[in-house]
Amino acid sequence: MKVLVLGGGGREHALVAKLRQDDPQVTIYAIPGNPGIARIAECVALPLADLKTIVDFALEKEIDWTFVGGEELLSQGIVDLFSNHQLRIFGPTQAAAQIETSKRFAKELMNRYQIPTARYQCFRVDEPYQAYLKKQTPPYVIKADGLAKGKGVIIAESLEEAVLACDRLLISHSCVVIEEYLSGIEFSLMALVHKDRVIPLEIAQDYKRARDNDQGPNTGGMGAYSPVPLIPKRIVKAAVNSIMIPVVKALSAENIPFTGVLYGGLMWTKTGVKVIEFNARFGDPETEVVLPRMKTKLIPTLEKLFSKVPIRLRFSHDVTVGVVLASPGYPGLIQTGIPINLPVADPYCFHMGTKMSSDGLITAGGRVAILVAKDKTLADARREAYLKVSNIPDNPCVYRKDIAKNL
Ligand code: AMP
Ligand code: GLY
Repeated sequence: MKVLVLGGGGREHALVAKLRQDDPQVTIYAIPGNPGIARIAECVALPLADLKTIVDFALEKEIDWTFVGGEELLSQGIVDLFSNHQLRIFGPTQAAAQIETSKRFAKELMNRYQIPTARYQCFRVDEPYQAYLKKQTPPYVIKADGLAKGKGVIIAESLEEAVLACDRLLISHSCVVIEEYLSGIEFSLMALVHKDRVIPLEIAQDYKRARDNDQGPNTGGMGAYSPVPLIPKRIVKAAVNSIMIPVVKALSAENIPFTGVLYGGLMWTKTGVKVIEFNARFGDPETEVVLPRMKTKLIPTLEKLFSKVPIRLRFSHDVTVGVVLASPGYPGLIQTGIPINLPVADPYCFHMGTKMSSDGLITAGGRVAILVAKDKTLADARREAYLKVSNIPDNPCVYRKDIAKNL
């Protein structure tokens, strides 16, 4: 068996670690991978931007399964291209990936099929968003239509701030979505999907804001844990039945069937579970806390998924907590190339943005690594994760101190 993983972040590292654990014999290539992945797979220095080169590589190596980490490749149609070459790839087509890549597409689909989500309206630059905002009550939720790496949402407390946010986003985006503010408990539900089949994984919670107590700007995610005791099982079931299955069926009904990981960014509100956003891929950092708990092997599961064989996923009762180490200044301006000493033997230290230099490991991104601990209780896993953080000598990174606190 030969597997190819596209990407070089913590999510891809956790995926490679899971594939390696499932089958010590499997050949795993990662493009481009990272220094952590390089310990357990073969990293190939090809440019991800060049889809043709990636397909040629997969053909030449006779890859059996390809996994796509990030949304950029999906939005460029990597799955369409691989499928045209009869290469098996687990991800949505360019059209189906719009569920993530276009907020407008996702919102219109949810409205057409009565999938619960925040009320919204879209505006182009020449449309009266100022007048619309004036009629709303704060806080105002403003989103860019398009890919923004989790940083495209602005929650504005004042009308002036909201108008300014729209003005600014409309410089680089064709439209903005202005949305009703929802309050409740957020959770991330990922499912393995093929056409109308939806196999949910266990849920996780992500910490989106940069600083403790949910202060500061939105980021790609500063930490996560799984499962989420605040969300009862019946709510997860309701989310699968009222959101995940209906949206997958809606896509099929529109002739854009979805294959791959469907990620629901959901909120349990006073009036039920609602969609904050969909992603068309594994979440980052959720994957780093969910996959270490998954006992069932991934590739045999996908083979069952594609051949309509029944699937029952098994997860460890242990819980996981992951703390992200970020470059100071993230998600704003950052400096990279700073030496960092990450634990080499820790199977749950996932590299997110690192590089090997002649002087050793250096930082190479906004999010640098995630240290995950697995234990019987959240309190134990949390203690262990922070112990791992404090054991890093001369740690140049910043991190949130409140991941999985007070649960
Ligand atoms: P998104 O990129 O759409 O997931 O948004 C990032 C974060 O912004 C979410 O995880 C929420 O914490 C927050 N957010 C987005 N939309 C809303 C909303 N309608 N109401 C309240 N918070 C929101
Ligand atoms: N953690 C949120 C995401 O993957 O977009």
